[in-house]
Amino acid sequence: MKIEKVVIPVAGLGTRLLPATKSQPKEMLPIGNKPVVQYVVEEMVEQGLKKILFVTGRDKRSIEDHFDRDPELQSYLSASNNTGLLDEMDYDKEGVRFFYTRQIIPEGRHTPAGNGDAVGMAEDFVAGEPFVVAFGDTIIKSGSHAGLVRRLLKSHQDNHAVCTIAVEEVSPDEFHRYGIVHPREGEDPDDFAIEGIVEKPSVSEAPSNLAVASRYVFNLDIFTALRNTPPGYRGELELTSAIQTLIKMGEHVRCVRLQREESRYDIGNIETYFKSFIDFALSDQRYGYLIRQYLQKRLREF
Ligand code: UTP
Repeated sequence: MKIEKVVIPVAGLGTRLLPATKSQPKEMLPIGNKPVVQYVVEEMVEQGLKKILFVTGRDKRSIEDHFDRDPELQSYLSASNNTGLLDEMDYDKEGVRFFYTRQIIPEGRHTPAGNGDAVGMAEDFVAGEPFVVAFGDTIIKSGSHAGLVRRLLKSHQDNHAVCTIAVEEVSPDEFHRYGIVHPREGEDPDDFAIEGIVEKPSVSEAPSNLAVASRYVFNLDIFTALRNTPPGYRGELELTSAIQTLIKMGEHVRCVRLQREESRYDIGNIETYFKSFIDFALSDQRYGYLIRQYLQKRLREF
């Protein structure tokens, strides 16, 4: 079966990026010349996923506006001979369809109930089919490698897995930020089954140095797992905890590793946001050379 649905959760509050995110979604913060979430959509479209559901929340309307047609702006740009500026966003032409649902804040809470809860909102949309999840605050930059999501989908289907996760090697000082997986022994280091996953472990508790990299493929079983997973930190239902429930249910969960020229940019906190912006600016086709010169000069002055 061809998997063509993707769920992009964008309903988080982004508190680690305050005050930048007080009234705008973190997913709309620019990295270079476009918002983070546009990179995510481009990655999905490039991998052939054309039905895209955003799980949105309060103060996230600008995401809907960003992916909507804007006839006034279009006609202004044509009148000023600048039509090319929005060509890359002509998703209609590529047959891409956007859907939106809202992550309802449960009674008794003031904040959304976690990224697992957000994925749970997609059950009607996926309508029984396997689907991809891509967090809206993380960019995957690929070199010349065959797309990460394509590799995830292939491994998922070839191995009849119920969940396949992209993972990336991280250094011990980053373990506390991610879910860290426990690979099963004796498997291919690039594509392997796991026997556990631990959310934000300490260095001594971490079962490996491989962290979840915000791209997943799921079968419907994830919804059962989500219903059977208790909330964790801050009362939020974490997707990682639901994956651990899947493993406890005896389901086959696998990982595909990012290749050397693939990098994950998680813009969830100020430090990683700054670093991501710098990396994209430095490698920008049009301005990268100028930025590299500028930075070299500035660094000599520090
Ligand atoms: P995070 O889990 O990193 O959290 O989001 P967050 O709540 O946005 O960030 P902080 O901790 O307040 O700074 C991973 C992805 O999941 C979405 C986010 O929008 C982000 O794209 N998310 C998170 C939801 O859709 N709903 C949630 O309840 C939480």
